[in-house]
Amino acid sequence: MIIGGPASQLLAGRVAAILNETLALCDYKTFPDGESYTQIVTPLDDEIVIIQSTPTDQDLVYLLQLLDVCRDRRVSLVIPYFGYARQDKIFKPGEPMTARALATALNPFLQNGRVHLVNIHAPSIMAHFQCPIENLDATSLLAERIASLGLKDTVVISPDKGAMAMAKTAAACLGCDCDYLQKTRLSGTEVSTAPKEVAVKGRDVVIFDDMIATGGTMATAIALLRQQGASRVYLAAVHPVLTGSAILKLYRSGVEAVLATDTLDKGVSTVSVAPLIAKALRA
Ligand code: R5P
Repeated sequence: MIIGGPASQLLAGRVAAILNETLALCDYKTFPDGESYTQIVTPLDDEIVIIQSTPTDQDLVYLLQLLDVCRDRRVSLVIPYFGYARQDKIFKPGEPMTARALATALNPFLQNGRVHLVNIHAPSIMAHFQCPIENLDATSLLAERIASLGLKDTVVISPDKGAMAMAKTAAACLGCDCDYLQKTRLSGTEVSTAPKEVAVKGRDVVIFDDMIATGGTMATAIALLRQQGASRVYLAAVHPVLTGSAILKLYRSGVEAVLATDTLDKGVSTVSVAPLIAKALRA
């Protein structure tokens, strides 16, 4: 039985359709005081799959509520987008390691369970879970979609060194060059940013990253690559968090198109990770 949390209903439906499993009917609402209410209306099977991204604090509460209902069952928990993954370290004294705190809160519900994440921002977070856990990689699904666009003389760019592994995987799928944007300090006040080795002039560029949040990282990268003569610039990201005016920033910077997956259900979520999740659940 597949249970779709409120942040992942469409994805849960797609996974249930691929696996030909029952999709549970659930009721989610918010009380007038802001508290969350959850009811799984369909009687539970012994083996349960819960699919719930956690982009907001309320989504975390819904996830805990679902896990509490299923506490006596064998649970496979899929968290396609794991919020707080960028709080994976203590950067300043007095700060929590929020990603660890969340794993600690989830662990008691997963004693007979397992967890599947998708392109977790910091793989070190996986060590805080006490059950089998895997990190699924949606890069090749995005690359396949890019391949269908018929781009010319393509180059894959990572906006920083951190996403270079993703860029390398994408470039291998596309059979093209890849590079990352490197900042070089010219003086105390001047910094220049450019691809470390590869020239982009006249070429179609695809920037790959794990997520787009405010859009600031990508907007800066798009503008830079356009200044350096890139022909068309596409974005491919696994998690379209897209806060505030992110999409406006990206299009104002001259992006040709934004492609993202349905780990979060947004207008740009045109590549589904459902086949990837279904395959992992079958294994
Ligand atoms: C950073 O390490 C991440 O991989 C993303 O590049 C970053 O979180 C994107 O954030 P924003 O869209 O707010 O620049």
